[in-house]
Amino acid sequence: MIEKIVLTGAAGKLARRLRAPLSLLCRQLVVADIVPLEATGNETAVQLDLSDAAAVDGLLQGADTVVHFAGYPREAAWATLIPANIVAVTHLWEAALKHGVRRIVYASTNHVVGMYPVDRKVDVAAELKCDSRYGVSKAFTETVARFYYEKFGLESLGIRIGRCEDEASDERMLSTWIHPQDLANLVQLGITHPVAADVVYGVSENSQGWCVNPPFEQFPYRPQHSADAFADRIEAAKPPTAKRWPLQGGPFADYEFVGESARAANFYRASYATFPLPKSRHGND
Ligand SMILES: NC(=O)c1ccc[n+]([C@@H]2O[C@H](COP(=O)([O-])OP(=O)(O)OC[C@H]3O[C@@H](n4cnc5c(N)ncnc54)[C@H](O)[C@@H]3O)[C@@H](O)[C@H]2O)c1
Repeated sequence: MIEKIVLTGAAGKLARRLRAPLSLLCRQLVVADIVPLEATGNETAVQLDLSDAAAVDGLLQGADTVVHFAGYPREAAWATLIPANIVAVTHLWEAALKHGVRRIVYASTNHVVGMYPVDRKVDVAAELKCDSRYGVSKAFTETVARFYYEKFGLESLGIRIGRCEDEASDERMLSTWIHPQDLANLVQLGITHPVAADVVYGVSENSQGWCVNPPFEQFPYRPQHSADAFADRIEAAKPPTAKRWPLQGGPFADYEFVGESARAANFYRASYATFPLPKSRHGND
């Protein structure tokens, strides 16, 4: 049994449902949030702001595993995202390194690949195409996690969560939905299964899904739920004028978007054949 797990954002919508399953995996579950929490069972409650380095340092003393679900969960101005999603992450990984934390399992998002068109499948190795400042803040987290693994050996699993609700309720969720139980299973696998600095998609078994997870032999995640069960109800309730999003990020990609979605959908950095070097630099004009 694990001695001590720290769960950040424990008052939040998703993390509060992780408290019971995580408390079974460890002797002490530290539930931490910027808002006050009441501890039950083997929990210890800590109220702190993760953008305070000294507080984070104290929080991680003696921890084996961190499950990091605190953060600002949607698009916002940088002034909001930076303390919650950037500064907090730098403090957390630094403190984890200092205190010999074995692993961090953290909430990332499908919005790190939200600029992919909806007719493409995306696996975990696909280049990132963030659809929002929020998505960029999570891409930062994934990069930090990779750096601390490659440089220092600190393990992590990022879960690119789709939309986590008890039920799927709109067309986009037929692709992105994850049931809270499937998310809890993924977090548990993230703690117990061997990982390096991997990422997985936090989605249930949705036949209309875009995300491709590693094969079962490599990462034994078997979702128990599917958005397909809600497809008829969603179709019947769909207003005739319902917008079809061209990009996987849906409203996140659409918000503030300038120009044609094809620009975002068709740009891939790996495709250097389209790199717009001025002709004179090729020496062939
Ligand atoms: N809800 C979803 O479907 C979804 C989808 C994709 C990713 N995510 C990610 O999952 C995580 C949890 O999302 P949620 O929907 O539960 O959000 P939430 O807002 O309900 O919970 C986040 C928690 O983090 C805490 N928090 C924020 N800033 C903090 C700080 N500086 N210090 C300490 N605590 C702080 C908040 O008080 C809150 O309790 C987030 O990282 C979010 O980006 C959620």
